[in-house]
Amino acid sequence: KGILSKKSDYEGLRILVTAGPTREPIDPVRYISNHSSGKMGYAVAKAALERGAFVKLVTGPVNITPPSGAEVVCVTSAIDMYNEVMKSYESFDVLVMVAAVADYRCASVSESKIKKSGDRFTVELVKNPDIAAELGKVKGDRVLVGFSAETDNLLENAALKLASKNMDMIVANDVTVEGAGFGVDTNIVKFIKRDGSSIDLPIMSKEDVAHRILDEVLSIGKG
Ligand code: CTP
Ligand code: CA
Repeated sequence: KGILSKKSDYEGLRILVTAGPTREPIDPVRYISNHSSGKMGYAVAKAALERGAFVKLVTGPVNITPPSGAEVVCVTSAIDMYNEVMKSYESFDVLVMVAAVADYRCASVSESKIKKSGDRFTVELVKNPDIAAELGKVKGDRVLVGFSAETDNLLENAALKLASKNMDMIVANDVTVEGAGFGVDTNIVKFIKRDGSSIDLPIMSKEDVAHRILDEVLSIGKG
């Protein structure tokens, strides 16, 4: 879309984006993770760069190339991502949390490869820090945007997250709908804002969704 590219409305703004999955180690050869491809987060980073922002992309392990011009920090676990974000968020104006952060990590990580033994095997998990929620507590006048990938009760769940994490906007998508799931190049999203207003978007490329998010962020920042 010619009209969406080559704006420079983000010049002078600094945007921090998390993307991709995290990996939570079980032992030296195994981990717990999820299906996030990183495409949506990378699209947000790229769109912000095109519009003149300084972009820091904190990314879990994915198979796509980061947009050139971004400061890219590759992390693995949720704790790593949390530490990286918390040490740098202060210098940013806009925080967009697209990463699919693992909610739990192993209570203890085995130093050696776990050998196969009985018919059942149990891993104890403990809760990871919630990066978006922690940012919500300290964000001040920074604009905080989150994502909410749901399989049911989309609007209720998303609205609860928006409020509990003190976000300015949440991007909700139903991952069971064709064209909005993991790994695809399109998304079907709804934006819910702090004032309760919402915007329903049709199926779009992740690039176009990214630009629409950036449009809304600017209107929130000015409002
Ligand atoms: N998020 C985060 N850190 C976490 C978990 C989630 O920063 N440890 C962020 C995600 O990047 C996303 C938002 O919080 O922007 C919502 O993530 P989601 O997994 O949908 O929400 P949860 O609060 O973890 O709830 P649940 O997984 O139970 O639906
Ligand atoms: Ca979660």
